[in-house]
Order: sequence, then structure tokens, then C-alpha cells
Amino acid sequence: MPRLHSAQQLVKDQAKRFNVLVCGRRWGKTTLTARDLVVECAVIKRQPVAYCEPSYKMMVDVFEDMLVQLAPVITRTNREHYKIWVVGGAVIDFWSLANPDKIRGHPYGLIIFDEAGFCANLQEVWDNIFRATLFDLVGSAWFVGTPKGYNYFRTLFVRGCSGRDGDERYKDWMSWQMPTSANPHIPISEVHASKLEMPEDAYLQEVEAQFLEDGAGVFKHIDRIIDNTILDDEEPQQGRLYSMGVDWARYSDFTVITVLRDDGRQVYWDRYNNMPWEQQVERAARVAVYYGALAYADQTGSGDPLLDQLRNRIYELQGKSKNPYSGAEALGYVFTNQSKRALIDACSLDIEREKLKMRNIPTQISEFKSYAYETSASGNIIMNAPSGMHDDCVCSFSLANWGRRRQGEVSLPEPDTSPNVWSQRVPLDETDMPGRYIESPDEYLL
Ligand SMILES: Nc1ncnc2c1ncn2[C@@H]1O[C@H](COP(=O)(O)OP(=O)(O)O)[C@@H](O)[C@H]1O
Ligand SMILES: [Mg+2]
Repeated sequence: MPRLHSAQQLVKDQAKRFNVLVCGRRWGKTTLTARDLVVECAVIKRQPVAYCEPSYKMMVDVFEDMLVQLAPVITRTNREHYKIWVVGGAVIDFWSLANPDKIRGHPYGLIIFDEAGFCANLQEVWDNIFRATLFDLVGSAWFVGTPKGYNYFRTLFVRGCSGRDGDERYKDWMSWQMPTSANPHIPISEVHASKLEMPEDAYLQEVEAQFLEDGAGVFKHIDRIIDNTILDDEEPQQGRLYSMGVDWARYSDFTVITVLRDDGRQVYWDRYNNMPWEQQVERAARVAVYYGALAYADQTGSGDPLLDQLRNRIYELQGKSKNPYSGAEALGYVFTNQSKRALIDACSLDIEREKLKMRNIPTQISEFKSYAYETSASGNIIMNAPSGMHDDCVCSFSLANWGRRRQGEVSLPEPDTSPNVWSQRVPLDETDMPGRYIESPDEYLL
């Protein structure tokens, strides 16, 4: 058997009971599972293994391949029912998920779903057939494959991400996402060549192992993170970290400022237009200083001088402020097709994992819901608001979330009952701020 390459070894070392391995083509998924993991379970632990493929043909291919690869340890085979017995007596069952009615599962120590992205009925076979076959031996499961849109494989991937990040509910789950280039046995020149030859979306999916869905909404399950208890801007609290995102009105008609608390709660939102630049900067600087926020602002093109002004103004305000807690700071974010993707994908993932709590502001919610992936004429994946709609709320929120990720989360031990130090802060003075943008009040009535 070949030695595992370092990415395969890392995956094996980090594995938990339920594992979701998302990789580019030719990463070595089948090599890791079909040889290493199967041998370890069947030969060393002497426990039965189920190996599942999405189609009959793929199942037969792997079966034939394993007959060759595992020859030294095979004691008996059944070519009619696709079973292999190995030394020690354990059986390896091969199942095609295309015919789930034929599956007669029995207790397994290990189940592998190869090319899980292609298994249209993955959820059904997992829930109804295979999950229970792991009970007796407290067996483990592997979902392995290349992404194929927003299907159940991706749902499990997100679950594993939560497990990896310490979510108690999914503590037995683990996920990885790795590109083809992690396999040292594939010449890197091939990977580079494929980038030139493939449409960008195909390359991102097949080689970079990204989940994409053309024409579909980027943000899933927005409704789950809408928090109707956030009625207005909230005061900063001692001990909390705040991050802010500013999308300047340059690209669209509105400037939007969003502030998130470290636990993902949206504590501030503002949107305004028709305002001279220095006033826009002034507002953003005040909000940043008020929350002591790490502010990410769009730095692309003419956003660059605005960032400088914002930074300077924050320093000035902070110098004057007597508030000892404020640690406001401004950083820039340059939008390219790729960097915007990273920004939006991070926000989308955090929404799906319910790491954020969004205030119920109709303009904002509808922007998020209509935001979509599109394929440009040149074949690039672009993410945008549909024509006629804005995306400044989405960008501002995602920038704030970028800062939030960067800062991390603080956990407060107890609700703070000590005298409120923050009441001594200079309140955010609205009176001399240039006209705060108010939408028609009806918009707030849901
Ligand atoms: N640890 C390894 N050592 C040597 N070659 C490997 C190793 N892992 C994978 N390969 C080779 O890389 C190629 C892709 O592996 P495979 O397991 O079929 O990838 P995938 O299932 O991810 O598409 C195959 O030619 C395989 O022999
Ligand atoms: Mg494979």
C-alpha cells in the first residue's frame, strides 16, 4: 500500500466519528478510504465495512480495484453480491446507492460514502438505512467527495465545520476542504493547466473543491438568523468586542454601516445617501469610536483616500475621547472578484451555521435574500445583487463579519451587574450628525 501523503495523514489524524472530506478531483480520496481506512477497520479491528458508491458502475470499479489492491489479505470473494472477506474474517460490503432497496445493511464498524456529492439520495440512505447500522459497534462514517452544488453533502460539510469549531451538538463531526494541489503525486503543472482550460466555476468546484450553485441564492436560511428582539441600535457593553463594516456609496447609491458584536449580534445599522464625503467619513468614524470597533471599509479605488480619512478621524476622535475602552481602528478591504467571493462566502457560511443574529430591517433582509451567484459572459462566477437592486447592506454586513472573524469571540462569564461604566461614555451624538437616513416608517412595520 502506498504511504499516505501528508494531507491524507493529517485528515486521518484529525478524524472523529463522523467525517466529511471535501476535496478536488484526484486529491487521493479513494486511495485514503479504500485502502487505508478499510484495511484498518476490516483487517486490524476485524470489523465489517460498507463501501458505498453513487452508481453501480462506480461501485464495480472500486470493487475490482480493491480485489487487486487488497489481494494479499483477501480470503474469499463473492462477485455476485460484491463482498470481500479478509484475514481475520471481517467482510467488506459494496453497495450502489442507485438501488437502495437492495441494501441489506448489518452492523458495521465503518461506512464510507465515496463521491457523496453525487449521491442524490444521500440523506435518505444515511437516515433510513445506514445510520442505525453503526449503533452496535459504535462505528464511524466517512462522507467523501468533490462538491456538487448545495446538496446534502454540503449540509453535512457545514455540520462538520461546526463540530470542528467546537459546537457541542456536532462534537463527533469533522470536516475538511482541500484542493487537488494537496496531492503531491499530481504534477502541479497539471493543476495550473486545468485552471486555464476550465471555466472558472468548473475549476473552483472540481479542483479547488468549492461549493457553488449557479443562479441560486448565496445566502441560505436567512430567516433562521433574523432576531426580532433587536429593535434598535444597542449600546456597547463592557468586555465585548465590536466590528464594523462600511460600504461607501460609491458603487451604489447608499452608504451602509453595520456593527456586529463578537457573538454575531447586529447592534447597529445605518444607511444614508446624498451626503458629502467628509460627512460620511465623520459618521463612520464616530460610530467606530463609539463601539471601539475594528472597522473594515471598502478600500477599492476611490475608497482608498476615504479609508485614510476615516483612519485619521478615528485617531483624532479617540485622542479627544476620555473613554479608556475604545480601541477603534480602521482597515481596508480591496474588492476583486476573488476577494469579494471570500468575503461573501464567509458570511454565507456563518449565516448557515447560525453564528449571526440579524436585525429585522426589510431593506437588508431583501438584499440578502436576492443576492445570487451568476456566471459572467466570460465564464467567471460573480456574485451580485440582481440588476436594479443594491448590495450595499450585504457588503457592509459581510465586512463587519470579516472583522468579527478576525477578532474572535469573547465569552463573558456572568451577566455584568456592576455599575455600568458605559453610561459614562459620551453618547453617540445624533443631533449634530448630518441627517440620518430614515426610510419610510412603514418599512419597519412587519
Ligand atoms: N498516498 C499516495 N501515494 C501515491 N499515490 C497516491 C496517493 N494518494 C493518491 N495517489 C494517486 O493519486 C491519484 C488520485 O487518487 P484517487 O484516490 O483516485 O483520488 P480521488 O479519489 O480523490 O479522485 C491516483 O493515481 C492515486 O494512485
Ligand atoms: Mg475517487
